[in-house]
Amino acid sequence: MLDRKQKLQRIIQIGLEISQIKDLDVLLEKVLTDARKLVNADAGSLYIKEDDKLKFSYSQNATLVKKLKKGHKLVYTTFSMPINNNSIAGFVANNNVLLNIPDAYEISSNNPFHFDSSYDKKVGYETHSMLTVPLRNVRDECVGVLQLINAVDDDGGIIPFSEDDEPLVKHFANYAATAIERAQMTRTTIMRMISMAELRDPKETGPHVNRVASYAVEIYEIWARNKGLDTEEIDKQRDALRMAAMLHDVGKVAISDTILKKPGKFDDEEYEIMKQHTWMGARLFADARSDFDEIAAEVAQHHHERWDGKGYPGYIDVSTGEALQNYLDDQGKAKAKKGEDIPIFGRVVALADVYDALCSKRVYKEAWDEEKVLELIKEETGKQFDPEIVEAFFETIDVIRSIAQRYPDQQD
Ligand code: C2E
Ligand code: SIN
Ligand code: SIN
Ligand code: FE
Ligand code: FE
Repeated sequence: MLDRKQKLQRIIQIGLEISQIKDLDVLLEKVLTDARKLVNADAGSLYIKEDDKLKFSYSQNATLVKKLKKGHKLVYTTFSMPINNNSIAGFVANNNVLLNIPDAYEISSNNPFHFDSSYDKKVGYETHSMLTVPLRNVRDECVGVLQLINAVDDDGGIIPFSEDDEPLVKHFANYAATAIERAQMTRTTIMRMISMAELRDPKETGPHVNRVASYAVEIYEIWARNKGLDTEEIDKQRDALRMAAMLHDVGKVAISDTILKKPGKFDDEEYEIMKQHTWMGARLFADARSDFDEIAAEVAQHHHERWDGKGYPGYIDVSTGEALQNYLDDQGKAKAKKGEDIPIFGRVVALADVYDALCSKRVYKEAWDEEKVLELIKEETGKQFDPEIVEAFFETIDVIRSIAQRYPDQQD
């Protein structure tokens, strides 16, 4: 276990690291990992306040992960609960106070809150000690709840959380709250950019871009791990990839509504115009200043290339859309990129996008059954899609499905 001085040093370092991370999902994971390390907690969850509810947004559990096959991830379901005094997290959010409970199964009935053991039973886990803290922003408002579960001593036994940990974790939670608010704003800004452009019905666009982004990050992570890439390198790219993937179709702002929203199939001419959305999107990030700009340009330009070299837009100058001189096909058009000449993030988003497009209803098509979608993906392995990317996708199909469930399409 860390001593007090080490803990303080750790907190300062974590504060710096957290302030650099911008994407909400990546941030939640980092916040929970760091908080658990700080107080040696076996498990933990994060709840984010949304309207007048608490949304169970992220969860980790070292004991349950050990029981999984190597490299597999814990799949959890998201749910929302009311902010009132009946539940532990609800009480903490409602009163903006910390709760340090030595044993969840021994809570005195004098308390208004109760421990709901159904989750324990479902997953085969025993929650005992629980440190639950409000995530307070700079205005002292509660934006969420951090719950740390089962403090572990040096011999691996479960002990109550120490009183000394309380101010440390509170301090940490304040950092985290500010960073989470900022990340929510980044995401809101991206969503606003997308909906201002009136790409599609905003009700549809939101879930679609969130799903494609989360699938892409998940698939990339598995692929990169299979390749033996450095974990720190992977971590660094995730944040930028997620935001870049959200913007994969941002070039559609340049396409007229008549084409974009056409209820039926395109003719050849309409399809040719639509194809321009790739490089027109890339052009927006052309004066690449950050890793993010570079990855966003890569994703926008290359998410419709095909592994077999029959995709688009191929070797072009993104400032004009014209073919590059040394890369012309027999008809004098731009040659498509092929295989590993297609940048990796393009290959990843290509699969994430098509999986989501096929599983969803569009103005021009009905949603397909997932079974049929998976069949097509298998069939297109080595044709439309990079075989290694397809392999990573199927390896993590359970997580992909849980992401779909997190971002459902809204009903009218
Ligand atoms: P999108 O709806 O996001 O679809 C992304 C990609 O998913 C498509 O790229 C295609 O590779 C795949 N996909 C979508 N639906 C189907 C399908 O029914 N069968 C198969 N095999 N693949 C499908 P693609 O074709 O390059 O299209 C790019 C974008 O152009 C689409 O994005 C959509 O916004 C638009 N689009 C394409 N075809 C039509 C059409 O016939 N009518 C209309 N209104 N829009 C279309
Ligand atoms: C869209 O592309 O925004 C519509 C498809 C969906 O329901 O996600
Ligand atoms: C979409 O509707 O396909 C999302 C728009 C975008 O990615 O910018
Ligand atoms: Fe596209
Ligand atoms: Fe798309």
